[in-house]
Amino acid sequence: MNDTRDLFPGKSGKPRHPETERAIFFSMSERRNTLVDDCIEQIDQAVRTLFGKPIGSGRDNPAQVIEDAELTATEKAESMCLMRVNHTGEVCAQALYQGQALTARRKDVREQMEQAASEENDHLAWCRQRIEELGGHTSLLNPLWYSGSFTIGAITGLLGDKWSLGFLAETEDQVVKHLDGHLQRLPGGDNKSQTIVQQMKADEAKHKATALHSGGAELPEPVKRLMTLLSRVMTITAYRL
Ligand SMILES: [Fe+2]
Ligand SMILES: [Fe+2]
Repeated sequence: MNDTRDLFPGKSGKPRHPETERAIFFSMSERRNTLVDDCIEQIDQAVRTLFGKPIGSGRDNPAQVIEDAELTATEKAESMCLMRVNHTGEVCAQALYQGQALTARRKDVREQMEQAASEENDHLAWCRQRIEELGGHTSLLNPLWYSGSFTIGAITGLLGDKWSLGFLAETEDQVVKHLDGHLQRLPGGDNKSQTIVQQMKADEAKHKATALHSGGAELPEPVKRLMTLLSRVMTITAYRL
């Protein structure tokens, strides 16, 4: 078997002392991202979220095994608008998680946010696929919502993990209620959209529970009301544009 010392010789070509090798190994494996690395990663994430193929958790679209039902033109249009709102909600969620993961202090919190962000990417991909199947397009205002949500995420991350997690828990709670409303509004025959929204709702409830379990604080009422107001503006505009 090859000795790793053969792979990483010193300048003289002689094998390094094992302690030196260990120090090099750890300094390489523990290398933290520079500001430039972070900026490139964030730009990549934003472009993937808005225009490309987001990297998800690897789950299949739960609606892919469901037969597409016959929908009237009105039902199709309604489903398409609702799924566009849900897609924009996922753009916001992705941006929030990315912003918070960037500024989160605890490693376990950062990792949880990255895991949740990959599940939000599943939702993004499923919503987009459904919108395309229904013959629609994603919201034109998504870049605006992404940048706003990213900024809010980064700021709450800077306030500390307790508030950042509390903000996440409240966001997910509001999303669950919003998805409940969509399950009522989606045409009864649109089983594909219903299935996607059901799975999203289950995931968002799990994200909320994880955030609370990790120490998320209860947000003050005025903050909750402001969040509700902002999400109303998002849902109204994404439904139309
Ligand atoms: Fe989501
Ligand atoms: Fe979520």
